[in-house]
Amino acid sequence: MGLKIAVSGKGGVGKTTIAALIARMLAARGKRVIAVDADPVTNLAAALGVSEDPPIVPIVELRELIAERTGAAPGQYGGMFTLNPRVDDIPDRFSRERDGVRLLVTGTIDQGGSGCFCPESAVLRSLLQHLVLRRDEVLVMDMEAGIEHIGRATIRGIDRLIAVVDAGVRSQLAAQRFSQLAREIGLQNISIIANRVSSGEERAVITRNLEGCDFLGWIPVDHRIAAADRAGTRPFDTLADAPSELWQIADRLTAADEARDS
Ligand SMILES: Nc1ncnc2c1ncn2[C@@H]1O[C@H](COP(=O)(O)OP(=O)(O)OP(=O)(O)O)[C@@H](O)[C@H]1O
Ligand SMILES: [Mg+2]
Repeated sequence: MGLKIAVSGKGGVGKTTIAALIARMLAARGKRVIAVDADPVTNLAAALGVSEDPPIVPIVELRELIAERTGAAPGQYGGMFTLNPRVDDIPDRFSRERDGVRLLVTGTIDQGGSGCFCPESAVLRSLLQHLVLRRDEVLVMDMEAGIEHIGRATIRGIDRLIAVVDAGVRSQLAAQRFSQLAREIGLQNISIIANRVSSGEERAVITRNLEGCDFLGWIPVDHRIAAADRAGTRPFDTLADAPSELWQIADRLTAADEARDS
């Protein structure tokens, strides 16, 4: 079983950029990788340079598929539907691949924190569980801050939860909340990636605010990342040009993947 990684963090800290680069780097190291976009605003395809022509429809928006698998129309709250729909064929059927990274856009469901249960959440939950607990590849999941809706069994199958922070204190508070939540459900394997750090002073503040946390790596401000975003292209088309700090992170994860297998 490949390493399962989830990348989380406050809006705009660099989750998608980092998830995409880590996925590509692990693939470049010879791993089979599935990248999962579970953000409500999906943009991992662009960061990976995966074609969006024809447009990618998130799994949670595939009404016919959801109806077929659950026996109920999406958005239906009352009534009967299958709680364990068949999902094992979905990753291969609905993903697109580039450079050894298979992208699956699941999307997510706004459950308003109150644990709504509807046909699309049954499919999403089963699909994430399948990806984390049953599929062999290395998994890199780009998701928003919340992990509650994923389901505890699935979350426990994740080997490394990465909270991305930047120099903004709010991103660090979000990472602390996220870590707290993860610990409450029994997870210890939480690491921080500090992104867009431009000075030793910033580094000192982040270290102080997140004292006791495990730091997986520090990524500097890199104007090529922002420039690629403006140009609508993926950053570092030639992966060898990516910052060494990112390669170090990818190599730590590669080592963790190999340790997991042996
Ligand atoms: N190390 C970096 N140096 C410079 N720019 C960066 C860096 N990391 C990310 N960026 C830029 O910051 C912006 C936000 O990055 P990204 O979209 O990856 O964040 P996100 O956390 O996924 O955001 P969202 O919460 O909206 O999904 C993008 O314009 C990206 O190009
Ligand atoms: Mg994003």
